[in-house]
Amino acid sequence: MAKTASLKIDDKEYPLPVMEGTEGEKAIDTRTLRASSGYIAYDQGYGNTGSCESKITYLDGDNGVLCHRGYPIDQLAQQSDFVETAYLVIYGELPNATQRKEFGLLLRKNAAVETQMQKILEGFPTSASPMAMLSALVSALPAYHAELATNNFEKDLQSFDLAAAIAMSKIRTFVAMIYRYQKGLPFMFPKQELPFCDNFLHMMFSEPYKDYLAMPEVAKALNLVLLLHADHEQNCSTSTVRMVGSSAANLFTSISAGICALSGPLHGGANVAVMQMLQSIHDEGDDGSRFIAAAKSGSKSNRLMGFGHAVYRNFDPRARIIGDACDSVLNKLGVDDPLLAIAKHLEQAALKDDYFVSRKLYPNVDFYSGIIMRAIGIPMNMFTTMFAIGRAPGYIANWREVAMNPKGRIYRPRQIYVGPTKRDYIPMGKRG
Ligand code: ACO
Repeated sequence: MAKTASLKIDDKEYPLPVMEGTEGEKAIDTRTLRASSGYIAYDQGYGNTGSCESKITYLDGDNGVLCHRGYPIDQLAQQSDFVETAYLVIYGELPNATQRKEFGLLLRKNAAVETQMQKILEGFPTSASPMAMLSALVSALPAYHAELATNNFEKDLQSFDLAAAIAMSKIRTFVAMIYRYQKGLPFMFPKQELPFCDNFLHMMFSEPYKDYLAMPEVAKALNLVLLLHADHEQNCSTSTVRMVGSSAANLFTSISAGICALSGPLHGGANVAVMQMLQSIHDEGDDGSRFIAAAKSGSKSNRLMGFGHAVYRNFDPRARIIGDACDSVLNKLGVDDPLLAIAKHLEQAALKDDYFVSRKLYPNVDFYSGIIMRAIGIPMNMFTTMFAIGRAPGYIANWREVAMNPKGRIYRPRQIYVGPTKRDYIPMGKRG
């Protein structure tokens, strides 16, 4: 017999169905609660709300577990690459050789950007935020691919494979274009023969008169960084993609909204904030204790960046992988970055401090990702756009899940109104 929970309000009992996920996560289904009782479930920030059923990513924050479609992140990090993991995240299975080839080909064929789109970029001051430029470029994609972005789930799903490849491939091209625009460098066309990460590095760092040939270690490190960001279940930006998508908005529009959500310093923007913090510790010759003391004040603007997570109450497994990779990547590239030693020292100091220990605050993926990105030549102001390239498969997979759900509804949370009660309009002359 199906399990139910029971909620008692005054003397009346309301039975509520109990749900269980494939990894044993339990939930109480409150969908009928308001209709039956007049009450809604209040959960500010949705920290205890399951907003959807999903088959993409499993995350156990208490035990530091992260799996995509059942595959543990450490196995993917060791044995897969970004494009293969993207396929897995988007389509649900590891590709066979033919599927992998076709997916790679579709990405290669759709890397180039329409030349008119350069004008969108050129309308921005070069000092603009790269994330603002990126979301603007992605939100313009429906104008260039109207047949793939009709805002009709049935039609958009028919051309999903192409739209997904365009989104994933062009976000990468846009990021390289933004970098070059800000530096006053000519845009580099993608090269069809290059693999995904090498092609990105080429578009970033080649010159019209001289090709940039990525060292295999650099392409490998980039693959790892992107792979580790591929999806992370219902985080702020992915939930935004789902929310916008739930209105039947097309894939590109939904992703553009997700990129805006990603830009905030408490989310994707944290990778920049971490490096700024490490740099300022370095510049001031401090040992980090000033930042630790400030973080303990409880003020949101003084948090120890790269520490803590809305879901993990244990090590973020991605932080462990990327932290371990830092030493070997920097060694292989012959880079001696003083910020790595500062990061390690800060991590050790925080992990010994009762404030962080008692609140179960551990390094998250952003704590070390910037150090690797810096080592491979990505400037700090582009870090969050790199996160967006990595997270694109997650956005695409989540949009698809929304679009494919026959029982899907528009996302529309409720609220508890706490403003003034009903009152009569006061004409201007009678206002104090
Ligand atoms: N530094 C200092 N204190 C912190 C930090 C931190 N980085 N993170 C959380 N806390 C404190 C909170 O103030 C709270 O203290 P209190 O119990 O005394 O009120 C306590 O720890 C518990 O906070 P949580 O409920 O775990 O935090 P929340 O879910 O609200 O926020 C968040 C999660 C936004 C990630 C937060 O930890 C943070 O701001 N971290 C720094 C920014 C960062 O690194 N963001 C990247 C996240 S990963 C990603 O988006 C890819």
